[in-house]
Amino acid sequence: AGCTKLFIKTMSLSSHEINDLTQTATQAARLGGAILQDYAQKGFTVHSKGEAINLVTEADLQSEKAIIECIRKTFPTHQILSEEQGLQDIPQHPIKWIIDPLDGTVNFAHGFPMYNVSIGVEYQGTCMIGVIYDPTRDELFLAQQGRGATLNSTPIHVSAAPKLAEALLVTGFAYDIHTATDNNLKEFCAFTVRAGGMRRTGTAAIDLAYIACGRLDGFWELQLKPWDTAAGKVIVEEAGGQITNYAGDPYSIYGQTTLATNTLIHSEMLGILKETRE
Ligand code: IPD
Ligand code: CA
Ligand code: CA
Repeated sequence: AGCTKLFIKTMSLSSHEINDLTQTATQAARLGGAILQDYAQKGFTVHSKGEAINLVTEADLQSEKAIIECIRKTFPTHQILSEEQGLQDIPQHPIKWIIDPLDGTVNFAHGFPMYNVSIGVEYQGTCMIGVIYDPTRDELFLAQQGRGATLNSTPIHVSAAPKLAEALLVTGFAYDIHTATDNNLKEFCAFTVRAGGMRRTGTAAIDLAYIACGRLDGFWELQLKPWDTAAGKVIVEEAGGQITNYAGDPYSIYGQTTLATNTLIHSEMLGILKETRE
């Protein structure tokens, strides 16, 4: 307990506290990523949860366990919300860790090498730190509020694509796609016939990280969960991008709709979403 760090409720975090949180977030993300790579090599069991296409593997669970243990060692009193374990039952704390121990589970289960660990750190409801670690490319995306965003320690910025016709877009589909009526297919068609190109990576965290570093220009999706977007939100914003809901309102990771862009094509994309969903 000698090295245990305790934060008291103050108006803001000191840079020392931000550095300590960032160090643990980075360490935990790399640890989770190493576990994913280990399972990718040796094999793993797969189960479905809820909808038959919504999978969870041994790797999701073991990555999550290791990440939580790593955080708990340094910060035993913080709140933790993670995809498979949910919200840990501990008293309110101004700092909340939001974890996706494997974003891109369907990719992972198929051996399609596009997945990552995503960790966001909220302070009094604002996401202050985001780490997305892609172990397949050894790429670590990091942002701290007010301090910019980096990819493997090099500063990153969103693209300069000025309009949709030149933009490479990306989206994803929720696990209720087989039955839902609001299923993103109308939007997919509308954007596909107007954009420079269209992709679907199968991982929302990578979609956001790639908006931040300019590999992609615009991303929209319905029904994402806080662990899909907590880290990506701060990374996109710190890289000069814009993230809102479909109405153009300030973004909440607890909301229903996500639009993230290089800023330049944001209003054009909002217009098409509005037109398509009317
Ligand atoms: C999923 C991925 C996917 C998105 C889904 C998410 P998971 O997360 O981010 O790209 O389309 O909505 O649920 O289940 O692989 O952690
Ligand atoms: Ca996810
Ligand atoms: Ca996941």
